[in-house]
Amino acid sequence: MDEEVLPWLRCPTCSGALDLRDSRCEAHGEIVAGGLHCGCGAVYPIRDGIADFLGRPRPPTIAQLTNELPATAWAYERLWRPFALTLLSGESFPYERELALVTEWVDAARGGLFVDVACSNGLYARALARAIRYAPGHVIGVDHALPMLREARQRARAARVRVSYLRASAQALPVASGAASGVTIGGSLNEIGDLDACLREVRRILTDDGRFVAMTLLTAQGAVGRAVQFAVSAGGIVFWSREELLQRFRAAGLYPQRDEQHGIVLFTLAFPSPQSERVPPKDGRRGTE
Ligand SMILES: C[S@@+](CC[C@H](N)C(=O)[O-])C[C@H]1O[C@@H](n2cnc3c(N)ncnc32)[C@H](O)[C@@H]1O
Ligand SMILES: [Zn+2]
Repeated sequence: MDEEVLPWLRCPTCSGALDLRDSRCEAHGEIVAGGLHCGCGAVYPIRDGIADFLGRPRPPTIAQLTNELPATAWAYERLWRPFALTLLSGESFPYERELALVTEWVDAARGGLFVDVACSNGLYARALARAIRYAPGHVIGVDHALPMLREARQRARAARVRVSYLRASAQALPVASGAASGVTIGGSLNEIGDLDACLREVRRILTDDGRFVAMTLLTAQGAVGRAVQFAVSAGGIVFWSREELLQRFRAAGLYPQRDEQHGIVLFTLAFPSPQSERVPPKDGRRGTE
């Protein structure tokens, strides 16, 4: 966790500001140990560079529990993630294409605070950190699975990018209201639990001109795809139609501006105010809503 992220952090219980105490820093400025103290009495420990806002509670679904396993965290970006979008979209979809789309849509190059929610090994978080390299700003990665965050931190260090990793719930982000220039969620809404509460949190932390970019899996059309989705739904993974998902975004105050579908993969850009009040994206293309 980086010291410059402190002004943006808030207690997820009472929204109070946090005071860093008993901290220990490494040479390059990362806070590796300490406690974040709130006036309400809550203390959130920082261990091995990761601030923990969750403590004991365990995730409720099988899919979420799977992500708590060190083996899943180890395998995620090694064995699954590089091929995931090509398999799910049915077309060639390497990292370069996906990460360019996400960082451009969220307009990371303008700087500010960017939050990658349910970040796993931090693929989007690292891409955001590279994209804001020349602007003032910072990237936070949030996940509720500690093994995922440990792996994410190692990967960020190896890539020499600065990302602050926080263990927290997507439904109670420890981030100040109106603080984030952008929020990304890559493939995680499908297993996030309470979707509407998560989307309301995203809306809460965005600045008025902030951007939300999500990559989400839609309901499959074919019989085989539907059968697979039915099987994994027992583990707590949920799929929506494009229309239903965008309606849930709107209900949370996130107005879809642009979206692109590849197979069952939907990329969405949403703004926290209706698009009529907004400047269109740089390429001038309007959304389909
Ligand atoms: C599909 S993976 C994320 C992939 C990652 N964003 C990427 O693009 O590589 C889902 C992640 O969401 C996390 N997660 C699921 N529900 C969550 C919640 N309610 N709060 C925080 N993290 C959650 C899991 O621990 C897991 O790491
Ligand atoms: Zn508090």
